Amino acid sequence: MTFAPSLDLGLVNTIAAESKMSFIDGTKGVLEYVGIDIDSLARNSTFEETTYLLWNSRLPNQSELDEFTRQIQAEYDPPNEIWDLIKRIPTDAVPMHALRTLVSALSLFDPEADDPSPEANHRKSIRILAQCPALIAGYDRHRKGKDFVEPDSSLGFAENFVTLLTGDKPTETMQKAMDVCLILHADHGFNASTFAALVTISTLSDMYSAVTTAIGTLKGPLHGGANEAVMHMLKEIGEMDKVEPFIKGKLERKEKIMGFGHRVYKAIDPRATYLKTFTKQLAEDTGNLDLYEMSNKIETIMKAAVGARGIHPNVDFYSATTYYSLGLDIDLFTPLFVMSRISGWAGHCMEYLQHNSLIRPRCDYVGPHEMPYVAMEER
Ligand code: CMC
Repeated sequence: MTFAPSLDLGLVNTIAAESKMSFIDGTKGVLEYVGIDIDSLARNSTFEETTYLLWNSRLPNQSELDEFTRQIQAEYDPPNEIWDLIKRIPTDAVPMHALRTLVSALSLFDPEADDPSPEANHRKSIRILAQCPALIAGYDRHRKGKDFVEPDSSLGFAENFVTLLTGDKPTETMQKAMDVCLILHADHGFNASTFAALVTISTLSDMYSAVTTAIGTLKGPLHGGANEAVMHMLKEIGEMDKVEPFIKGKLERKEKIMGFGHRVYKAIDPRATYLKTFTKQLAEDTGNLDLYEMSNKIETIMKAAVGARGIHPNVDFYSATTYYSLGLDIDLFTPLFVMSRISGWAGHCMEYLQHNSLIRPRCDYVGPHEMPYVAMEER
């Protein structure tokens, strides 16, 4: 193989591997999972079915879906040691730190943690996905001084999460909203956290290490952490009259507006389009229409100011209002993103391992050469 390196900062122009999972047309604003438009999935599918689609490259028939759902349900309850560990996490910890630590800790109690077979990786993917709701909800209840709620293996994924978190079953609207958010966030090509997971799995490490790596990567405000940043911004703005001076001031100071812009989409992110319509009703029903209207005004101002440069709302922009309207604490927004994206991370790891190649780019060394080693007393 000839080596013809060229510098590609941020890997903007690098295609790192092939994948059959999700397709993005950033110019037209299209996202498909295995060829199916995201809008159609959000409208008709469930998170379990979408995960099956991503992991198997096709939709399941009814008995396949029932069996896959049953496999997930059977793994809802983390080991007792994990529940004990949750109780030892400081109650002021950032939930993303708690979640990253807990997912990593799951490996300690899984005898298959280092079994690299495709079958074991599939089982571990199900386990990590299935137990994530209990980790998020368990930590949230612990920090609020509430008793844990036991996972209920008769419930669907979204329903189980809400029950674990609140102690009550969700309303139909809440359950649908949760499922829609889970579907929309499930996969997105080689985004930073998926790529980070692939770097880890490509060393033939293990699924727990890969997902732990990915959680740390998703946390940043340029990636999954943006949904929390959007909500903090909306809170900071506070009222409609302050929207325009706030946004214009930020743009003048060349500061970024969270929830806008995307490395791939130069048209509007189709997930944002779907969530915008979906969230309007939800915000109205829950008395949060002001948040929706402020968001809409920000979008209008941004369109006039930077729309022509391809900077539009991304998925995190309207998901902030969605999650807030569902009554979720702001610092649980990114953990919720994790819960969904495990589907994509695990799917990509399993897919990549079929044709594994160690991910190891080079750097362009720009430092000095042939320097003398100067003795300590002479420095
Ligand atoms: N507000 C204002 N200006 C922006 C924004 C924004 N949100 N995003 C990009 N720009 C400007 C940026 O200032 C730069 O301008 P200039 O050329 O004058 O220096 C230009 O657009 C290119 O920006 P970039 O950051 O180099 O472009 P990128 O392709 O690396 O950016 C991004 C992608 C997501 C990091 C960026 O748009 C951003 O920081 N957005 C805000 C954070 C955010 O919402 N992240 C969520 C991403 S989508 C979902 C997810 O991954 O979770």
